[in-house]
Amino acid sequence: MNRLRSAVFKGKRARQESVETKVQTRKRSKKPFKEEEPPSSSYHSFSDPADVVQLRSQLLSWYDEDKRELPWRTLGMTESDRNIRTYAVWVSEIMLQQTQVATVKDYYNRWMKRWPRVQDLAAATLEEVNQMWAGLGYYSRGKRLHEGAQKVMSELKGQMPQTVEDLLKQLPGVGRYTAAAVGSIALGQVTGAVDGNVVRVLCRLRAVGADSTSPAVTEALWNLANLLVDPERPGDFNQAMMELGARVCTPKGPLCFQCPVQSHCRSYRKVYVKQKQNSMKLLGKVHKTTPDLPDIEDCMNGETCLLCPSEPWDHELGVQNFPRKPAKKAPRVERTLTCVVSRPGEEGGEEFLLTQRPNKGLLAGLWEFPSLLLKEENSEVKQKKALRDEISTVLRTSMTDHLQYVGEVMHIFSHIHQTYVVYSLSLTESNTRAQTEKTRWLHRSALQEAAVSTGLKKILKLFDSVDNLKEKVSKDGKKQKHASLKNDKKLQMSKKSRLAAANGGGTQPCISSFFKTVKEENS
Ligand code: ADE
Repeated sequence: MNRLRSAVFKGKRARQESVETKVQTRKRSKKPFKEEEPPSSSYHSFSDPADVVQLRSQLLSWYDEDKRELPWRTLGMTESDRNIRTYAVWVSEIMLQQTQVATVKDYYNRWMKRWPRVQDLAAATLEEVNQMWAGLGYYSRGKRLHEGAQKVMSELKGQMPQTVEDLLKQLPGVGRYTAAAVGSIALGQVTGAVDGNVVRVLCRLRAVGADSTSPAVTEALWNLANLLVDPERPGDFNQAMMELGARVCTPKGPLCFQCPVQSHCRSYRKVYVKQKQNSMKLLGKVHKTTPDLPDIEDCMNGETCLLCPSEPWDHELGVQNFPRKPAKKAPRVERTLTCVVSRPGEEGGEEFLLTQRPNKGLLAGLWEFPSLLLKEENSEVKQKKALRDEISTVLRTSMTDHLQYVGEVMHIFSHIHQTYVVYSLSLTESNTRAQTEKTRWLHRSALQEAAVSTGLKKILKLFDSVDNLKEKVSKDGKKQKHASLKNDKKLQMSKKSRLAAANGGGTQPCISSFFKTVKEENS
C-alpha cells in the first residue's frame, strides 16, 4: 500500500470535502486555541498551538511506523470509489462496536467477500445476515446494517451518506462516534472521534478524572478530540488515537515508556513527579529546594472543576487513576429452561427442533432451542411440565414424552448472567413433521452454520458431551446409572443414523437449503 499516496490523497480529499458541521474544526484550528478550552481551566486542554502540532506529528509518525494492517484500513486507503469506501468503513465500525479487532477481522473479510457493495447487502435476507453474524454478539448491529443498506438503496438512490451529519441522520445504528469515524476515515471529514479507547487516552493525557460518562466530561472530550485532530489526515489521526488506546494506553498495565505522546501526558507527569519526590524523600532532600524537583501541576479550579476527580489520586494506580467510571450496575441474573429436542432425520442422522426469537430485543431473530424464562425457582417436576407445555405449543401437539435433565450452561451477556437449565427430549418421527415460519427442524451440520447464538452452541456442546458419555458407558457394558442421560430410543437412533451414514444414505441438507426454505416461505 502506498502510504504517501494515500496520505496526500486523503489530505486532498479532506481539503476538497470540508463542510460546515458542528464537529468541523478546520476553521477552528486556525483560531487561537483558547477558544476551544473548557471554561474551567486550560489544565484539561491545550493552550499552546505548538503542543497540538507536535502531538499530531508524534502520534502520526508512530502510527505510520507501528500500526496494524487491518482489512478495513487497507480498504479505506486504497478503495477509490467513495461509495464503496464509505460502505466498507461503515461495516467495520459497526462490527468493531463492542467487539475486539482480532475477532472482527475474520468476520469482516467474509462479509466483504460476500457483500462487497451496499447493493449486495441490501439484496441479502436478514436470515443470511444473521447467519453471517452468528457468534459476533450484539445481533441488532447486523440487523441495522441490513436495514441501513436497504434504506440507502430505496431512499438514497444507492448513494451512502457523504457527511458526518447525514451519516448520523440517515443510517440506523449510527451514533455520534460511528458517524465521526466513518466520516473521517472514509470521507476525510475533519472531526475527532471519541470511542472507549479514545476516552481513556484523552482522560489520561489531560488528567480528566471526573466520571467519564458524565455530560460535562463527554463534551470536554469531544472538544479536545476536535481540537487535536489533524486537519490533513483526520482518519489516520483518529485511528492512531484508537490504536494508541488499544495497544499502549491500555486499561491495565499501560506501556507509558512506549508512548509517543508521553511528553504531553498529565497523568504520566503526575506519576513521574511523585516518584521523583519519593526518591528525594528517601535521599533526605525533601526540605531542600532542589532545582531538579519538578513541579506538580494541578487544575487551578480544583474544587469547582467539572473535569477533576472527586476522589483523591491513588498512588498505587498511577495513570490508571484515569478514566473514572461510575460503578457498574449489577447484571441481571436469569435462569432459562431449554430443551434439545431431537428426532431422526429424513435422510439419516438426527435433527433438532429450533424456534426463532422475536425480531426485537435480545438475540433478535436468532434461532434457539425451545426455551422458557424461569420466573420463579420451581421444582424439577414443575420445570419439566412447563417446558413440555412449551414444546407442545411449538409443535402444536400434546407431548407426553419424558424430558431428561442434561445439565446447566452459563452464558454471560453484557447485562445478563444467563444460566440455561438444559433438558433433552428424543422423539420418534411421527407427529413432528410440521414446520411453521418460526419453527424449524435442522440437521446438525446445518445447525453449526445457522444463525444461532454462542449460548446455543454451548448448550449443544453440553448435550453432546453427555451423549458421548452415555455411548461410552453403554459400549463398556456398564450399568447406566446417569440420571441425566437420554433414553434408549435415542441410543437406537444414534445407531440407526450411524448405519445410514455408513451405507452412504446419510446425505444431509445443507444450510443454504434451510435458508432457501425460509426465504420461500417468507416471500
Ligand atoms: N475501533 C474502532 N474503529 C477502529 C479502527 N478503525 N481501527 C481499529 N480499532 C477500531
